[in-house]
Formats: sequence, structure tokens, C-alpha cells
Amino acid sequence: MNSKIKTYNPDLPVHMSFDEHDWHLLAEYWYPIALARDINEQPYGTMLLDMPLVIYKMGEELIVAQDACPHRGVPLSLGQNDGQGIVCRYHGLRFGSKGHCNRIPAHPEHKISARFNLKTYAAVERYGLIWCSLTAQPDAAPNIPIMPHWDDAEFQQLVCPTVDFKCFAGRQVEGFIDVAHFAWVHPDTFGDPENAEVPDYKTIETETGFNADYWSSVGRYPIGLDQRGKDGFQWLRHFEIHLPFTATLTIHFPNDAKQVIMNAASPMTARSTRLFAPICRNYDMELPVEDAYDFNIKIFEEDRLVSESQKPEYLPLDLSIEAHFPADRSSSMYRKLLRKKGFSPLFAS
Ligand code: FES
Ligand SMILES: [Fe+2]
Repeated sequence: MNSKIKTYNPDLPVHMSFDEHDWHLLAEYWYPIALARDINEQPYGTMLLDMPLVIYKMGEELIVAQDACPHRGVPLSLGQNDGQGIVCRYHGLRFGSKGHCNRIPAHPEHKISARFNLKTYAAVERYGLIWCSLTAQPDAAPNIPIMPHWDDAEFQQLVCPTVDFKCFAGRQVEGFIDVAHFAWVHPDTFGDPENAEVPDYKTIETETGFNADYWSSVGRYPIGLDQRGKDGFQWLRHFEIHLPFTATLTIHFPNDAKQVIMNAASPMTARSTRLFAPICRNYDMELPVEDAYDFNIKIFEEDRLVSESQKPEYLPLDLSIEAHFPADRSSSMYRKLLRKKGFSPLFAS
């Protein structure tokens, strides 16, 4: 944490909260950085892996760039798009298509050097989200986790508002794949304090992470609602973990109803995470989407207390650091595979 940058490198963030080794490995992946519905021609500022980003559109073209003017480093997200590009607040440089500078008001007759163009990043829209990679080539096929049923007409697709966590993304993801905390953290939403025992389950390694099928009698209908399920119904929760920070959960409800929820944790810094959660469901499609947003946000808020207070704040990939029981199969696998990818044993310490 807080390592000082000793040499100038325009591709690295000015302030690094990650270890430089981990940062380079993390930068190879794709992460969601905004809800597509929030993006238009006006500049939108955010952060990914300590790198300040500005997102804007020129017509249909999506541009994601470093949120620092090449002239004197003022964030372009402070500016406005005048129709021909986003205008810097300090000296009026304007950046349009591809992030290219197309105006220097102090020298309107000079040819504009490429030195004034913004540093841009590969970005695409998928699942109602803008995804970005800080090191992918612009034309490379994006390595984005699969969201089952996103293109399925029998399902409804929704995208929850984002939720910000003051914790490392690894800790948040691990909370999402944890099957032993329902009775303790979620008794007010879907958990059952009387049903805390965790049946055994397996994990299976895949090309991008691992899968786990967890069968139990813990339901997922909101507490207090007519449960609609049958007594003794066995619920299947199918997890697909895509390293480093996305986990997609398909919950099999009674009567062939299904809900898919993607927990895509975007590491803004080593201690702040923006959670993106697209959902697909083939039931309750006539109900207001706000009800689904509210229920899921309530669940994430319940998780907040735990994930924001865990110590250490980093994720120990060295399994000897914390104690484990059999219900932790998924988190142990998660840590083992992250370590295998080369991340530090004290990941994001
Ligand atoms: S700092 Fe942006 S135009 Fe000078
Ligand atoms: Fe939880």
C-alpha cells in the first residue's frame, strides 16, 4: 500500500494502492466501470485500479480515457461536451472521437500534435454495463464473463444500481460465494437462523476459474412473503467464478423459475470496490424492477458490515493465515486459483 512511484510511467496511476506486481496482473482483465444507462456525451468520471477514467460518447462511439488533461492534468470529467468533444476546464482543449484533441484555443492556427491526444482504453458495452481493460489491445476480443440468459427472450434482464464497498474486491467476492453465512448475515432477507448447517458440495476448476453446485434447503424468496416453495424443496445454487472478481450465481427456484445474478466487483482501489449486478429472471417479470433492485441491494447492504470490517483487509491467499472448515471449499479454491495466477500471498496488502 502507498508505495511511492519513483520513475515516471504514463501508463501507471499516479497513486498506487496495489502492489505493482499485482497491479500489472490485474490490469490484464476486464472490469465493469459504469452502468451503460449513465453514459452519454457528457463526461463521466470514475476509477479502475487507481486509474482515474473519463467516459463519454461521440454519437455511437464510446470513449474511455485517462481522466487527466495531457496539458496540465486537470480531470476532463470536470468539463462539458460542446457537441464536438469534451472541453477541459483549464485552457479549453477539446477532445472528440478516439480521444483526439481537436482544438487548442490559445493557438487556433497551430497544427495539433498527437502528444495532446488522450490515452484511451479498450471498452465495450455488455449486460447493460461498460467494461474496460487497461492493457487490452483496442481490437482484442474482450475476455468478459458469461451471463447466462442475458439474450434469452424468456427471461427479463435488469441491472441493479451500483453498490460501493469500502473493502478489497477479493473480500467482497468471497462473501458472495460463501454459503455458510446465510443464516447469520441474512435472516432479515432470505436466510433462516434455524437452518445453519451446510451440506457438502464440490468445486470444479474451469478455464476461467471454477464452478460449484450447492444444494440446500435455504430458499431465496423474501422472508415474510408467501414462500411459494414446497416444504423440503432442495434449492440449487450454481456458482460460476470467473477470476479475479466476478461470480455468477444461478438460483433454481421451485417450478422451474430461475434467477441469475452476476456479482461483478470492480476494484477502484485496493480498498474500494464498486459492485455491478446484472440480473436475469424468468418469474415475477410483471413486478416493478425496483422491487428486485431493493431486495438485492438490501442483501448487499447486509453483507457490507462484514466485508468492510474484516481484518486483515487484504485477502490471504496463503491458506495458513486463516482457519477453514469444509463449507469454505469455494473460498479456499478461490484463494488457491488466485495464487496460481501469480497474485501475491497477501493479495492487495
Ligand atoms: S489543463 Fe486542460 S487545457 Fe490546460
Ligand atoms: Fe451475503
